[in-house]
Amino acid sequence: MYCLAIETSCDDTCVAIIKNGNTILSNVISSQIDIHRRFGGVVPEVASRRHLEYLIPALEQAFQQANLTLKNIDLIAVTRGPGLTGSLLMGLCMGKTFSILHQKPFIAVNHLEGHLFASRLDHPDITPPFISLIVSGGHTELTVVQDWGKYVHLGRTRDDAAGEVFDKVAKYLKIGYPGGPLIDNRASNANPTRFHFRGGLEDQENYDFSFSGLKTAVIRAYDQLSDSSKKDEKGINDLLASFQQSVVRTLWKKTIRAVKKTGIRSVSLGGGVAANSSLRSLFSQKGFQNNIKVYLPSPALCTDNAAMIGSCGSFHFSFGRISPLDLEPDPQLRL
Ligand code: KG4
Ligand code: ZN
Repeated sequence: MYCLAIETSCDDTCVAIIKNGNTILSNVISSQIDIHRRFGGVVPEVASRRHLEYLIPALEQAFQQANLTLKNIDLIAVTRGPGLTGSLLMGLCMGKTFSILHQKPFIAVNHLEGHLFASRLDHPDITPPFISLIVSGGHTELTVVQDWGKYVHLGRTRDDAAGEVFDKVAKYLKIGYPGGPLIDNRASNANPTRFHFRGGLEDQENYDFSFSGLKTAVIRAYDQLSDSSKKDEKGINDLLASFQQSVVRTLWKKTIRAVKKTGIRSVSLGGGVAANSSLRSLFSQKGFQNNIKVYLPSPALCTDNAAMIGSCGSFHFSFGRISPLDLEPDPQLRL
């Protein structure tokens, strides 16, 4: 069973071909980072126009790598939301058009559920129930996966998402875009204990997150530095490492709380921030110490990709589910 998957929820134009729901034959990502970098963030109107430009070449590349043609495809899976309306529309239109022209079934996929299936692609042994933490540019979601397709919401961010604060702090400090990987890199050999920051709601007895106050605290600490300190690369790296550590520590505290309350000792991570090296090492180390199995998808499957959409779409299709062709994007779709 071959599934053609399209993911255009934000600024990456992604096309993949998946065999039997779990084998990646191709996974093409056409990044628009170079275009959005000069604006310091994703410009929705620009992103949707670029998807239109990049989609056909990405599709051609995906078919070439998989050594297949549209005739071989049994299912077309496309992200429906959450995301940017204009961007989602591009992928959906393309998928629906192929579905009509080539008489192939079409299935719409929830992007967040796709991030969950990234773990399954890399770790076929992962079995529900498990706790899922999705940390991306738009989301910070803690969920109990009782079964595939059966999710119980625990908590989410009340303001900025984890990836969003990385990007905003980097933008303010003029470090570059996107901030997550750049901060990760600059923090790698720095001192995370030099500054003391706290994640919002860090020690509160709930599963919600709040990162906007932390962002303000980091910006204030930076503003209070002397001009020469602002130019001191090592000092700035320490500031970034201290910020990063407070985000990672907060994410761990809420996750371990969910583990303790539910008694479920498996945790899966997903979303772009799950590519963060500090987060990966802390979760692996603490998981080991606390006898919790931690499933980390490879960094390439943490960030947005169509392989996870194909895997998720194939799963639902195997239960006979398909979507109507008049389905519209849902920018606010929840898990
Ligand atoms: O999942 P994703 O590719 O797109 C969304 O669904 O949002 O996540 C993108 C986010 C961005 O905010 C980016 O800065 C962040 O993930 N990110 C990282 C790292 N790589 C990507 N954050 C921290 N450390 C990283 N290594
Ligand atoms: Zn995502």
